[in-house]
Amino acid sequence: MAAASQLFNAHTTGRYRADVMQGVDLVAKTVAGTTRPFTGIPPARLLPAVDSVDLESPLPDTAAALEELAGVYLRDAVYFHDTKYAAHLNCPVVIPALVGEAILSAVNSSLDTWDQSAGATLIERRLINWTAERLGLGAGADGVFTSGGTASNLQGLLIARNHAVEELRLDPRHDGRRLPALLDGLRIFTSEASHFSISKSASLLGLGYDAVVPIPCDSHRRMDPAALRTALAESTGRGETPMAIVATAGTTDFGSIDPLAAVAALAREHGAWLHVDAAYGGGLITSLRYRHLLEGIEAADSVTVDYHKTFFQPVSSSALLVRNAASLGHVTLYSDYLNPESAARERVPNQVDKSLQTTRRFDALKLWLTLRLMGADGIGLLLDAAVDLAAEVSAVLADDPDFDLAAPAQLSTLVFRYLPPGVDDDRSDALNRHIRKEIFASGEAVIAGTTVAGRHYLKFTLLNAETTVDDVREILTLIRSAGDAYLAGAAA
Ligand SMILES: Cc1ncc(COP(=O)(O)O)c(C=O)c1O
Repeated sequence: MAAASQLFNAHTTGRYRADVMQGVDLVAKTVAGTTRPFTGIPPARLLPAVDSVDLESPLPDTAAALEELAGVYLRDAVYFHDTKYAAHLNCPVVIPALVGEAILSAVNSSLDTWDQSAGATLIERRLINWTAERLGLGAGADGVFTSGGTASNLQGLLIARNHAVEELRLDPRHDGRRLPALLDGLRIFTSEASHFSISKSASLLGLGYDAVVPIPCDSHRRMDPAALRTALAESTGRGETPMAIVATAGTTDFGSIDPLAAVAALAREHGAWLHVDAAYGGGLITSLRYRHLLEGIEAADSVTVDYHKTFFQPVSSSALLVRNAASLGHVTLYSDYLNPESAARERVPNQVDKSLQTTRRFDALKLWLTLRLMGADGIGLLLDAAVDLAAEVSAVLADDPDFDLAAPAQLSTLVFRYLPPGVDDDRSDALNRHIRKEIFASGEAVIAGTTVAGRHYLKFTLLNAETTVDDVREILTLIRSAGDAYLAGAAA
């Protein structure tokens, strides 16, 4: 087939429709036939299939390419929609967003400049305003879509760093000091349970990992404000500058939400930027029953929200929101070929002025169609179901003497270990590691793992409104039988 006929344009819409439908049909058929989240295939068995594909010899048609794809990818993919997938912060996705995904990639708007996006820019702006309003950030707020929570946190902290440097430059004691010397004393305070992208950001921003001051948590893994107060006092006593405090609204492992109002008061007292990482908990802005858990978030200077976690959107979809629109100016740079300063003066709505990325997907379309078809309440109902399920499972685990629950459910995760009587900590580490591996290899369920105080634990992340307590009980039965088989083998 002539290469040009593969281009999508006014003359090829018929084939576009037919070919995309073949892909859609294959996915639908595969998903309809899945009975477990994973086949359990090890990388060593899949690799030869992928490696043996001859990329120099194209296949004759879409049907052949899709048949091949079924073998190298779809048959053995990890399926987040399955009710026994309970591992990471991946959500089942809603159909309106999948319609959006198909449209946005076909039209292929790029959200850097108005002349590559037109209405797409206005839709993204509406959704940023919608999110900021629900967060309570005030009339002066703004933001931008990003590729994920890691990128949103990086941008939030980049703005915080540049804001701090701006302040330092006004201080006569720093007269004549330039970058990078000005970065020397900047510190970021965040709980020991916060996401590792905070440390990564500190490193990328030229501050180094040591610039992050880990703050102890209470027994629920929420930042302890008294410990934060002490750490801030000690740091300023050493002549350092508290550049930012990062509170987490929904920690990755425990779903814990830091005491946002108390942390905000300390940020204000010390002139520190308050960034709230609500990558996980941000979805609560749609909840009629649990929105109150985010109280205090309205005091943030910047907030990370991941639509691809608790808004049931396909990867990627996230946003960084800021209280003061002008603070996005810290990432503005004009380029003659793309976004000349004259365009800004003419108020051309170029989103690249607010973004770390240049070419950028129209991910906002997925959220737009979701809101237009389900409404915010519809998203909230899905999230509420996951939060309720986690509370029920939390009670099941707390009542079972063979399981050790690290903390009660706070959002929709559970951290626990299989610890039947007589198993000590050292054996428990090996036991729970084995259980997780064994279950993944069986493909019957997918669960996560983490460490608590140096000990290995298992983790459920529940985000599927279709999952029932009985589904989770079945996973617990798998855990128990994998664990008992291991203990019996070890004893033999
Ligand atoms: C609290 C928190 N922040 C940030 C991130 C990073 O988000 P992403 O994976 O979208 O980059 C995660 C991911 O799980 C998270 O749990």
